[in-house]
Order: sequence, then C-alpha cells, then structure tokens
Amino acid sequence: MRLYKAPLWSLIILFGCYCQLWAAEKPAKAAIASAHPLATQAGHEILRKGGNAFDAAVAVTAVLAVVEPYSSGLGGGGFWLLHRSSDGFQTMLDGRERAPLAAHRDLYLDEQGEVVAQKSIDGALAAGIPGVPAALAHLTENYGKLPLAELLKPAIEIAEKGFAVDDYYRRMASWRLPVLQAHDASAVQFLLQGEVPPVGHLIKQPDLAATLKRLAERGVDGFYRGELAQRLVDGVRSAGGIWTLQDLRDYRVVERRPITGHYQGMRITSAAPPSSGGIAILTILNILQENNYAELSEPQKTHLLVEAMRRAYRDRAEYLGDPDYVQVPVEKLTHPLYGAGLARSIDMQRATPSPKQAERSTAEGQDTTHFSILDREGNRVAATLSINYPFGAGVVVPGTGVLLNDEMDDFSASPGVPNVYGLVGGEANAIEGGKRMLSSMTPTFVEDAHRIAILGTPGGSRIITMVLLGILEMANGRGPEAWVKLPRFHHQYLPDVIQIESDALNDQLISQLTEMGHNFKPLKNRYGNMQAVVWHKSTGQVEAASDPRGVGMAKIE
Ligand code: DON
Repeated sequence: MRLYKAPLWSLIILFGCYCQLWAAEKPAKAAIASAHPLATQAGHEILRKGGNAFDAAVAVTAVLAVVEPYSSGLGGGGFWLLHRSSDGFQTMLDGRERAPLAAHRDLYLDEQGEVVAQKSIDGALAAGIPGVPAALAHLTENYGKLPLAELLKPAIEIAEKGFAVDDYYRRMASWRLPVLQAHDASAVQFLLQGEVPPVGHLIKQPDLAATLKRLAERGVDGFYRGELAQRLVDGVRSAGGIWTLQDLRDYRVVERRPITGHYQGMRITSAAPPSSGGIAILTILNILQENNYAELSEPQKTHLLVEAMRRAYRDRAEYLGDPDYVQVPVEKLTHPLYGAGLARSIDMQRATPSPKQAERSTAEGQDTTHFSILDREGNRVAATLSINYPFGAGVVVPGTGVLLNDEMDDFSASPGVPNVYGLVGGEANAIEGGKRMLSSMTPTFVEDAHRIAILGTPGGSRIITMVLLGILEMANGRGPEAWVKLPRFHHQYLPDVIQIESDALNDQLISQLTEMGHNFKPLKNRYGNMQAVVWHKSTGQVEAASDPRGVGMAKIE
C-alpha cells in the first residue's frame, strides 16, 4: 500500500503547486484603456457578460467607430495585435485599407505630373477599401466567445440614441468644416444646420446603426456584398471615386506575424508591414543598445535618439511598403548587427544633415485612435485604428452612415513628395491597385521579467517615436501614467527638424543640441493620445492609463 500512497500524495502536492503557479500567471483584474469613456465602458460590459479580450475589442472598435467619427470608423482600417493566453499565440490582424483596383501611380498627379495634394485628402477619390467591418467579423469568428450581434449592440444603441458633442469633437469638426459642409450626407450626420454643433448636442446616426445591424445579422457579407455594397459603390462613384463591387468582394483581413526583438532584457512585439512601426522601433532600439544609450549624459542621449530616429525613417522611406507587393527586408532592418552598422555612422558630436528636399508643414493631431485591453485570463489586445485625417475624406456615403477614409494619402503619390505628415517615400510605397498603403500605426506589447505592457497611440508619422519614448520610460522603471503624459519630441529624417512639444526639452538642452547642428520646430499643439495597460506578473496587479491630451478613459475592473 505504502508504495502506492507516496506517489499519490506527491501528485496531489504537485497539482496544488501547479494550480498556485497557474493562479499567479493570471492578472487579478481586467483593464481597458481607450480614447472614449463610452468605448471603455462597452468593453467592460462585454467582459462582464463572459466575453474575452477579443470580444471586448470588437465592442470597443465598434463604439469608437460611432463616437469618434474624426478618428476611426466602419469606413476605415487598422491593426489589432493579439496575444492568446491559453497557448501564447500572437498575431496581428491586418485590416488596413487597400487601394481600389483601378488605382494607379499617377492617380493624384495633374497634367504636368505635379501632385495635387488635396485630391488624396478630401473627397471620395482619397478613400481606400475599408477593412474594419471585415476585421470585426474575423476577430469574432476566430478568437471571440460571444456572437457578433451581441458585441455590436452597444455601438448600435449609441448610434441610435446619440452621443453628446464635447469640445474635442467641436475642435475636430471645425478643422474639417469646409469638406463636411460640401457633402450633404456628412453635414446631416455631423453638423447642425451646416455648422459645428454646440457642446451637449446629440449626434444620432440612424443610417450607421442600420449598417451595423446589417453587419450583426449577416456578418462580413452584410457589408462587402449585396445591397449595402451596391450603395457604397454608387455613392463613392457619384462623388468622384473609383470603387467597384469587386473591390469590396475581394477585401480580406490578413493575419501577419508580428515583428519581435529585444532591448535591455525586454521583449518587444509590434506591428508588422504594411505598418512601418515595429521595424522602425527595433532599428532605433538596436542603435541605442549598441551605443549604451542608458549610460549617456542627457544631451548625448537626445542626440543619439534623434540620429537613430533619422536613420530609421530614412529606411522607412526607402524600403517599406505592402509585403504582399514588395519584398521588405525585415530580417535585415531588425537585426542587431544592422543597428550596429547604423550606430557606427553616427558622429556623437555632430548632427548628420538629411538631404535638402521639398518640405510640407506636417499635420498635428489626435485623430486616429488606439485602445489596449487585458482580460482576467491574460489575453491581450493592442489596436490602432484610423480613417487618417480628422473625419477622413469628409464624405458620408448617402444611406449608409459610412464615413470614407482618406488613407490613400499614406501612399507616396510621387517619389520624394511629402504626404500630409511630411513623410516621403518611393517605389516600395507607390500606388498600385489592391495594394495596402504604408502605415505608422504601432500597436505594441512589451514584456520584461516582471511586467507585460500593452500600448499604442495615434499621431500620424509621430506614432512610432511616441511608442518608442514609452518603451524607454518603461526601461527606466516608470509606469504607464508617466508614459502617457510624457512631453514628446520627434525626428523623421525629412523635414530635418526636431519637432517638440512645448515642454519636451529644456532651453539648455536645446542650445546644446543646436550647437551640434540640430534644428528645432516647436509645435503649436500637443500630439498623441496614448492608451496603456500594464500587468505585473509577480503580484497580478494591473495598471492602466489614458493620455491626458485626449478625453479617453482607463478602467480596471
Ligand atoms: O496609418 C497611418 O500611419 C496614418 N493614417 C495614421 C494617421 C494618424 O495617426 C493621424 N493622427 N494624428
């Protein structure tokens, strides 16, 4: 008998230990940080109903599409970075817009071959084929636990009952007032008697509610085929666009392997092409690591960081584009040895000038959106979504409630000609029918020995450096409250200036860097709207923070 008892007891003890370990492997609470309180609340409501982080991500995406029409929407696209706790599987859902099949590289050029910038920003010709509706269906079917109809309920209800205009909405609508006024369906949906509505006015979107219901009932086909697809194509074409039914029918979400790498014992998991974010962040971190960034004096640190940014954005312009159309040298650009080579090209006493080229003043804003979610199982979502410029192309397709994106501006319309964010590009990101335009959206996970972080932000070309500064703050031991409010600076190769928020660098530092040959551009507005969640693995404690620059809400429950 004894012979049998000993192994049985040890098995019970072993099982107990395993359960304890397992318990410590889970967060004590769930957390959601998003750019709007209604979206954060909707996500928690879904978690309370038994949904997982992926279900909550569907609800949050859909609510943001209703309450932040200046940032994202069914007419837009995005990237959802996922981590499934049961098996550690990680993937990036690429729901980025595609160029319509009829698009070509001269789409935005006039007869003299000059870029007509406004054509890729305002109006239906600026719109790529949306990916958000397909991504909502894909996320639900492949990763969620609850039905799509349940997950879309909060968004449908808000679209029907309305949400209240706040100062932030007024600022964004004022910015885009002329284009919203120029399209009747946009004016009806977003303005009041043709003007920016007052604070407290309810924005009701019955057509959008009907489109969401159609998606809830029929899934992806409810949007990309049949009556709604026909309405979208008719509406786009009569407003000067080039969409076809085939464009909508052919749209697919692609799952991509995230970009991964290490910095000072932290594992970084970030967005893969057609985003430039993950690659650029790793290039920069590899350069910093090579030059012992953490050990340097303040001016040397800032100089090195700026020079690393400059080089990563130069490579972005040269090499990056849709991986289904061009070969992106991911291995090379993210390899520590490549970073070491770039580090050697940096003069630690002098700025390396970028070549002189046409410059365009860069847009400053908080349009586009990000949310971060952690559930009690440890599932994670970091998602950055966009319709590009505030209120996208400014065109609501009549009878659909769908506001078109102007993401086509993220292509390089002509080699070396900057887009609305001042970014240049070439062949790799040239316009081609069916191709996805290069993005800077950078949903990211960072893991060190004690913490797992989920973060991201909007901010056009500055997204990448904002996430980078967040990662460096984390490496410094600071928490998410510090990362989201940190004053920011940025360099993107061209234009050759360090763009700074008013309080980002002190006067002494600025004069030291000016001596080294750097140029500065103080920004009028603050930028970014970071949403971050952190899980402390050893204690199970959870933190969440929402950027004070926006109106978002971080909630732990
Ligand atoms: O995908 C991109 O990189 C851009 N369309 C993102 C735009 C953006 O973040 C605007 N926010 N200021």
